[in-house]
Amino acid sequence: MKILVTGGLGFIGSHTVVELQNEGFEVLIVDNLSNTSLSVLDGIQNITGKVPAFEKLDLREKDKVQDFFKRHHDISGVIHFAASKAVGESVENPLLYYENNINALVYILQELQQKTEANFIFSSSCTVYGQAETMPITENAPVQQPISPYGNTKKIGEEIIIDTAKVTNVNAILLRYFNPIGAHPSTEIGELPIGVPQNLVPFITQTGFGLRKELAVYGDDYPTPDGTAVRDYIHVVDLAKAHVIALQRLLNKKNTAKVETFNLGTGTGSSVLEVIHTFEKVSGKKLPYKIVGRREGDVTSAYANTDKANTVLGWKAQSTLEEAMASAWKWEQKIRK
Ligand code: WQD
Repeated sequence: MKILVTGGLGFIGSHTVVELQNEGFEVLIVDNLSNTSLSVLDGIQNITGKVPAFEKLDLREKDKVQDFFKRHHDISGVIHFAASKAVGESVENPLLYYENNINALVYILQELQQKTEANFIFSSSCTVYGQAETMPITENAPVQQPISPYGNTKKIGEEIIIDTAKVTNVNAILLRYFNPIGAHPSTEIGELPIGVPQNLVPFITQTGFGLRKELAVYGDDYPTPDGTAVRDYIHVVDLAKAHVIALQRLLNKKNTAKVETFNLGTGTGSSVLEVIHTFEKVSGKKLPYKIVGRREGDVTSAYANTDKANTVLGWKAQSTLEEAMASAWKWEQKIRK
């Protein structure tokens, strides 16, 4: 079976391609290479021994998307990762995010709605919950108006899929990621460092390696045990495996609704200081950091209630924070050699 993975050379996309190939799927990747490089294809092949088919494609170009689907009739499912994902950048440049994250989604769905079988996995985010009232967060927690345009594109994307599925053959699963971290244990693929990292873990590993002077901890005055904000850090390989299971659910017609939603996290919340201390433990290094003011738009706490993914999908994250941090550190050292 041929599976289209958009953004398949990206951080989560590439790890998902590996797991798809491990399960025997034929994979076709499209990526516009705006936030990755072709070398990721080599990394995937070094892990699985199989080179996925690849086409450079910018999904913002409607005619190119139409032409692509004219040439590929035998796609059984689509996992859609391709999107811009930097929260801060989205505030500075909202139209870049609305064009890239919404138009592309619409153009793909316009093609899928013409197919008799259209299975669609959407990369969403816990950011749609904003600051949820209750921890851990279930899929029934209200979707709030996300603070960033990035978060808003995920909320709108979900709504577009729901409206489309109601009146077409499209069946979809929305996967709301918490905080993806780490790298494949082979160190053949991982989070590619382009520019100054916005996310906590790559900034920590680059600081640990000496590329950054110190980590700025955005606030220690939150109502949490140690005052720093709490998140649910999930190993990217665990996240990737969840995508394959979700896809198989649709391919095997096990879904009980046209659109299903799952939170993908570990179910455990970790504070920024706990992540720092875990890094120090796995690396044996002291991490230089300073406490600064809160970052605009950050929530106090977000970690997943994973009961639904555990029972309905039959999926559970396997890696601990320590294992995930160790894989991130191993990757950092590998790419700096
Ligand atoms: C985590 C914690 C920061 C950097 C966002 C998106 C989410 C997903 C992951 C794309 C927070 C603190 C961070 C730093 C810090 N996006 N921090 N110093 O904001 O929880 O989630 O990225 O896939 O959709 O919303 O992740 O890693 O940026 O921050 O203190 O230099 O680390 O304040 O508490 P976030 P993050």
